[in-house]
Amino acid sequence: MQGRPRVFATRALPGDALAGLAGACQLEVWPEHCAPAPEALAARAVEAEGLLCLLSDRVDARLLAGCPRLRAVSSVSVGVDHVDLAAATARRIPVGHTPGVLTETTADLAFALMLAAARRVAEGDRWVRAGGWRGDWEPDRLLGRDVHGATLGIVGLGAIGRAVAQRARGFAMRVLAFSRAARSPGDLPEIESVPLAELLERSDFVSLHLPLDAATRGLLDASALARIKPGAVLVNTARGGILDEQALAAALREGRIAAAGLDVYEREPLDPASPLLSLPNVVLTPHIGSASVVTRARMAERAVRNLLAALAGERMPWCANPEVYG
Ligand code: DGY
Repeated sequence: MQGRPRVFATRALPGDALAGLAGACQLEVWPEHCAPAPEALAARAVEAEGLLCLLSDRVDARLLAGCPRLRAVSSVSVGVDHVDLAAATARRIPVGHTPGVLTETTADLAFALMLAAARRVAEGDRWVRAGGWRGDWEPDRLLGRDVHGATLGIVGLGAIGRAVAQRARGFAMRVLAFSRAARSPGDLPEIESVPLAELLERSDFVSLHLPLDAATRGLLDASALARIKPGAVLVNTARGGILDEQALAAALREGRIAAAGLDVYEREPLDPASPLLSLPNVVLTPHIGSASVVTRARMAERAVRNLLAALAGERMPWCANPEVYG
């Protein structure tokens, strides 16, 4: 074991990626089901040269400063808003992430939430299970909104946003998109690029696909939410911090926004006191955008490849702060 780099993994992972890591490193895996508390993370990582983490582990400047031997951080996620990239770069620590492999799986969930929220699927399920279905076929029971032929506004036209747009084709939807970066529609010429305010005003469905950073935090605040077309449906599979949950809950309660499908929250797990929990017109899932058997195994595999490359002194194949190599 001597001579092999020490690695701390903050959770066991699906698939056999960790077995490969164990063969090449002195690997310690956090044994519990939930994330280590910040003090526990700092204590376990203090001697580590490699850290394998999840999006629920806060890798901030303080943690990095407390791990003097750390040479690589690898997150099993595409989003890296839980890592202080600037602090890592200042310490010349590459930060790995897993773009690409979860695009289609996350787009599937965005579409599932759109359909479920629009067609009141979860409400129907609850009603049947609660024994509410006693009459026969009721003409006015659980009427929802049509997805086919509606206008979909995609906020953030990166890989996942584009994958959602591709699915919208099959539903004959008109697609509007707002993108911070100038992006060519490429193989999706039917997408109409519009400013955010126009997208919110014209779309029947709004789906968020932006990373969380200083510019997107709170982007969908109360005034942006107030611009959303009355009766529209909002879907968020990106990050909770992009929208103001209290303002969304108020809009859902008043029916200004007809329904929402949320997979991500300002605070995870969702605060038990969240007003969203008592609203029938919101479908809530527990941050499972990438949660398919195949995709989670691929994410683990990429995260391990990133870590092993960096520990071997090579460039990480999927690095979130490539400037570290400059
Ligand atoms: C990510 O990888 O950032 C996703 O949120 C996980 O589903």
